[in-house]
Amino acid sequence: MQLKLLSRLHTKLILLAAMVCFVSIANYRGVAAQERTIDSMYLEIDKKYQIPEDWSVLPFELEDPYRRVKNGPILTNVIHKANVEWISRWIADPKSVVPNAKMPDLGLEFDEIKAVIAYLGSIAEEGTKVKWDNYLLKREDDMTDEEYDNMDQVFQMGKGVWSRARCTICHPIKGLGGNVGVGPDLGKIVTKINRDWLHGWLTNTKKHFPDTMMAQFRFSDEEIRGLAEYIMRDTQFMPEEEDGEEEGAAQKPVEEVKVLTKAEYDSIKGDNALIFKGKTIIEKARCFVCHDIKGLSELMPVVENKREGLEGFEKVLYDIRCLTCHTIRKKGGTYAPNLTEAGTKMKMDWEKEFLKAPDIIRPLSQQMPKFNLSEDDASLATGFMEKYLLNKQLPSDVFVNEKPTAEIVEAGKNLFYSKGCNACHADGVKGGGVVGPNLGTVGDRLQPAYMFHHLKNPTAVNPRAIEPNYGFSDQDIKMLVGFLVDHVKGKEGN
Ligand code: HEC
Ligand code: HEC
Ligand code: HEC
Ligand code: HEC
Repeated sequence: MQLKLLSRLHTKLILLAAMVCFVSIANYRGVAAQERTIDSMYLEIDKKYQIPEDWSVLPFELEDPYRRVKNGPILTNVIHKANVEWISRWIADPKSVVPNAKMPDLGLEFDEIKAVIAYLGSIAEEGTKVKWDNYLLKREDDMTDEEYDNMDQVFQMGKGVWSRARCTICHPIKGLGGNVGVGPDLGKIVTKINRDWLHGWLTNTKKHFPDTMMAQFRFSDEEIRGLAEYIMRDTQFMPEEEDGEEEGAAQKPVEEVKVLTKAEYDSIKGDNALIFKGKTIIEKARCFVCHDIKGLSELMPVVENKREGLEGFEKVLYDIRCLTCHTIRKKGGTYAPNLTEAGTKMKMDWEKEFLKAPDIIRPLSQQMPKFNLSEDDASLATGFMEKYLLNKQLPSDVFVNEKPTAEIVEAGKNLFYSKGCNACHADGVKGGGVVGPNLGTVGDRLQPAYMFHHLKNPTAVNPRAIEPNYGFSDQDIKMLVGFLVDHVKGKEGN
């Protein structure tokens, strides 16, 4: 082992561990409060997390998926997930295996990696077997015509599920996509995983990795089988053919890394001395700073997240991991619209339908996946937003109980076109720009008070908004809002 490298790494990892402890102490500060003088640094942190006065107190604490204690998956059963060849390449050099890997190269040598894998094999629990129709396990060339047609049906169904689920919103494929910035590149995933594991993962991600940032889609078993067929068979999930004849394909001299084969693994897997060596190496390399590993996790402070018995919207949030994409009160991701004031912004009838079957709001490729949320899930979400995710300072009296008059609508229309709002917004079927949301049925979607607030100062709602602040008078805004409120289904701006 390269000792220097390891000791440098060691210091880094101790620092990391110290940070983790610090975070957990900070979290538990409230619980263990005692008489003591408070460091100014803590006060700073406190200020940052204080709830603004006009926010109501939530019935549970929001969990930020980006602040999980261990960023790597649990390794206890990794041997059932990934094949040993893949694992050995991965530990030797993660970035050469998955382009967007986060795990550092730990500088282990082949013999050490072999021992580590022997240890990982020794701690695995019994794997689960899934029953597949036999023909699905055949190579395409070996199928009868009928089998091929049947397989193709399953495959096509899975392809549809894949695109509606918008998996590529989180996962890049060979470097393309993955705008949320969280999932591993799936461009060579067939070289890593197997059908049984994939079935288990899509059925219940949290069982494999309770802290995962991946959404638990509400798939049926049939849909999962379709997805598995698609992922295990479509070429986009396979390494590219290495044909050197292609134009200008500069032959990179491939440095042959030594890889643990299945055969060699089978010959060493019960070797107790090697298993013990592997455990020692894992301790020294501090793998458990980022991974839960059976037999070693006790070396780290245990930070438990209580997830059993979650109910209501808290469970929906945890299952779907809404906060991997959305922010609520400074927690979560920034890829999707901030939901902190969703209850003041949106009309809940519209919102409920949207959650069950998301439609395109913003034309520029940013669409919410279809999670197959049930009526109950959707009601829990809207109920929560309506009650807690509010901006209590908004004027709530614009057109709530009155319909805008024809004069107001007409005046608003004139303003809309004379100010060039249509440069960025489509006015329903009349067309227009695609930079902002299509406003065709905005009257069904947004509450008038929110539109008023938005038009008064677009950047107050979204600091990154590119919509100009026109400096409208309240009267102008009332006309514009009147015009927009009139944009409902069936009228669509006409
Ligand atoms: C600094 C944090 C860190 C350390 C230390 C670390 N890993 Fe990882 N590891 C990760 C992350 C993050 C992933 C998830 C994949 C990625 O990098 O995006 C990962 C993935 C893995 C995987 C694939 C797991 C899966 O479910 O696909 C294996 C195997 C693995 N690590 C083994 C090890 C071993 C063995 C060590 C110690 C020698 C180690 N790791 C040390 C962060 C770390
Ligand atoms: C909200 C973002 C998100 C979405 C949407 C998403 N994933 Fe994931 N997925 C992740 C993350 C993140 C991981 C890695 C585990 C972790 O770090 O939590 C992952 C892991 C995986 C893995 C294991 C990959 C590996 O190398 O370990 C597979 C396979 C997978 N996802 C398939 C899918 C499929 C199929 C879909 C669509 C049905 C999907 N994902 C949708 C975020 C997402
Ligand atoms: C994989 C990322 C992702 C996840 C996870 C996710 N969303 Fe979304 N969501 C989006 C995107 C992207 C949009 C913007 C859609 C558009 O403009 O067409 C969106 C839009 C919305 C909107 C409309 C917001 C607005 O201001 O227009 C609501 C409400 C919403 N999501 C709620 C939820 C809830 C509740 C969950 C969890 C049950 C959730 N989302 C999970 C990506 C996600
Ligand atoms: C330079 C482009 C641009 C112009 C001009 C513009 N907007 Fe916007 N507008 C946007 C963008 C981008 C958003 C989306 C913000 C977001 O995604 O949350 C937006 C959001 C909105 C919304 C809220 C929609 C929602 O779902 O959050 C309304 C209402 C709106 N604009 C009305 C108008 C009106 C009325 C005008 C003219 C007075 C106008 N806009 C001019 C770019 C523009």
